[in-house]
Amino acid sequence: MPSVLKSIRENLKKIPFLQKIIILLRGCIFPPKPIPIPPENHCFPSGFVEINDQFVQKNWEHLRVGYDEESYIKESIQLIRSHTMVSYHGLASLASQIKYLKDNNISGSVVETGTCMGGSAALMAMFCQHYFKEKPTFYLFDSWCGLPQPQKKDYMDFMDKNWGITEQECNGCLVPTGALEASQQDTEDAMFKLANYPKDKVHFYKGWFQDTVPQASKSIGNIALLRLDGDLYESTKVCLEHLYPLVNPGGIIVIDDWCLKGCRMACEEFFEQIGIKPLVHHVDVCTHYIIKN
Ligand SMILES: C[S@@+](CC[C@H](N)C(=O)[O-])C[C@H]1O[C@@H](n2cnc3c(N)ncnc32)[C@H](O)[C@@H]1O
Repeated sequence: MPSVLKSIRENLKKIPFLQKIIILLRGCIFPPKPIPIPPENHCFPSGFVEINDQFVQKNWEHLRVGYDEESYIKESIQLIRSHTMVSYHGLASLASQIKYLKDNNISGSVVETGTCMGGSAALMAMFCQHYFKEKPTFYLFDSWCGLPQPQKKDYMDFMDKNWGITEQECNGCLVPTGALEASQQDTEDAMFKLANYPKDKVHFYKGWFQDTVPQASKSIGNIALLRLDGDLYESTKVCLEHLYPLVNPGGIIVIDDWCLKGCRMACEEFFEQIGIKPLVHHVDVCTHYIIKN
């Protein structure tokens, strides 16, 4: 037994029985009060800060985790928050990633596979407006009719409750499930009305990645930042296979759904297939990224 525990036990033995009872009763009648923490010292959980959560919004002004230009980042996030389901860290980290591209002259476009309502894409566009004189081109991919059927290997318990997809339904068919449905117009509003990005610098690819990505990869040229946000095994795999080779050395591959079984499996299989063991940087419990050598 560690010596501290031993000495506590020895000391307790010395307290007379009646005194022990009084201490116990006092604890029950007057339970110790929590020490009040001033709001500016409140600490948010570092795992996953859901920006649209009521508590987070209520305490928004106190949210500060140490990103450079965090007030600017927070203002930008507030503008697009109704267009995204990405976490605070997942969004905020995009600012330093875009700045890194500029500081290191990593040329190429910004590609997002899984744009949904356009929030994360619009935020990247805002940071590009902020950091780049010559604006990079955006290529945005989505079915804009929600997720297709996951495969069995994608299935996780939350899918039933959050997406209404049961394990039996996971057959990998390219048919809309209705989960995460959004319209292309949502993304256009976010890119052009909120981020004010030049229209000639944004290209939309509507349809299943399995159909759009292989074809588009022949013409989109080099990529500086590839943001994978398709949630599922096949949706991640097809994008890695066709778009990873286009990422310039020093470019970034953001994997929004590292915490989802199928997505992580697709990434790990792909890394093994091409013989790399990249350092997978942790942004939060869900979002991770790698830098291409
Ligand atoms: C989590 S959402 C993207 C979130 C978005 N980036 C944001 O800022 O909130 C995932 C998106 O991927 C799309 N998606 C997943 N698999 C797809 C596939 N195989 N083909 C086309 N779209 C797909 C879904 O339609 C959905 O809009």
